Amino acid sequence: MKVLMVCLGNICRSPLAEGILAAKVANNPDWVVESAGTSNYHIGDRPDVRAVKTGKKYGIDISNQTARQFHPSDFDVYDMIYVADRSVRDKLLSIASNEAHRNKIQLLLNELMPGSDAEIPDPYFGGDEGFENVFKLIDEAADAIVKKYNK
Ligand code: 4NP
Repeated sequence: MKVLMVCLGNICRSPLAEGILAAKVANNPDWVVESAGTSNYHIGDRPDVRAVKTGKKYGIDISNQTARQFHPSDFDVYDMIYVADRSVRDKLLSIASNEAHRNKIQLLLNELMPGSDAEIPDPYFGGDEGFENVFKLIDEAADAIVKKYNK
């Protein structure tokens, strides 16, 4: 199972999503969990210090990740592409070239609350509490993914 977590900058939400899900499936070598951003804003950057701090608080080390931009070839590489919010979903849908690729795109929180189309709020312009909220939402969604696929 190859999973790609995608947000806008690849420095806040998707690095946490990568770290959290990777930790939960670390016992299963069949899983690959990576992340990317739709924008080019932070290519090559480490995750936001607030994301690193929040992960660390819960035992998830994301400090060595490096931001990269989503590339259309990712549609062929990954089995599932989880997006943080609807604008990220719409961006990926606009560059997907076929139905098989479009079908790989799912809102991450739909694994937790099926059919809700709920979003992981962008915490970039807020304070630490936004990162706490993001961590908790992702952690619960990752539990749902593990329950569903890590048999
Ligand atoms: P992310 O958060 O998409 O969760 O990584 C953001 C990071 C940077 C920006 C926006 C959102 N930005 O505008 O630079």
